[in-house]
Amino acid sequence: MYSIMKNKFLHRFKYITLVIVVLAFFSSCTVDKNDPGRDYMGKFDMYYTKFYKAFTPNKILPHGQTNQAPPKGTVPRGHKPFPLKGSNVQERLNGQTKAGEILKNPLKPTKEVIAEGKRQFNIFCADCHGKQGKGDGHLYTAGLYPAKPTSLVDNYVQSKPDGEIFYVITKGSISGLMPGHEIQIKPENRWKIIHYLRTLAK
Ligand code: HEC
Repeated sequence: MYSIMKNKFLHRFKYITLVIVVLAFFSSCTVDKNDPGRDYMGKFDMYYTKFYKAFTPNKILPHGQTNQAPPKGTVPRGHKPFPLKGSNVQERLNGQTKAGEILKNPLKPTKEVIAEGKRQFNIFCADCHGKQGKGDGHLYTAGLYPAKPTSLVDNYVQSKPDGEIFYVITKGSISGLMPGHEIQIKPENRWKIIHYLRTLAK
């Protein structure tokens, strides 16, 4: 008698448990597909990780910042480091000559290449050198840049090999009065600018 009662109770208990589990399971479903539904453990850190945003201060990491500089010598995927130095006058003097000898423009001066070269020139060079490359950009004429930009259409620049001009764009002029644009302009676009410069002379 006792064991039958116990069995019945257990049987019911199982049944009730099953119903509760099924109900709980479906209660987190909603008709709206964009609604994540109810979640039962949301208050635990492991569900919603707490993280630092890239540009926020950080008490744990070096220099108190979240974004860390990449380790020394790291290069972006597909990036070929520029082979010539240029951190002082002597290095730039040697570098510019050497670049004229060893660097060749890998692009053909197609209509598209020249059009993109023009676009890049107007963004990165025209403010100093002028839209026509005559050395009369508004930064200079308005007195905002102290050094006179060289004319890019005269023989002095036009007679230089592409590699030398590429060097100047990358590392700056020998004196350092024109800054280098290694970080701002992709190598490919530097070559395009040079093709565009050739059309300005004509
Ligand atoms: C911030 C102003 C500025 C910008 C921007 C600038 N230049 Fe210059 N550039 C100068 C100045 C100033 C000189 C003269 C520097 C000197 O005599 O050392 C110069 C000189 C040059 C020369 C002659 C270098 C030589 O061997 O004497 C070339 C070529 C040149 N720039 C190309 C460019 C190109 C191409 C761009 C765009 C990618 C550009 N520059 C952007 C200011 C600028």
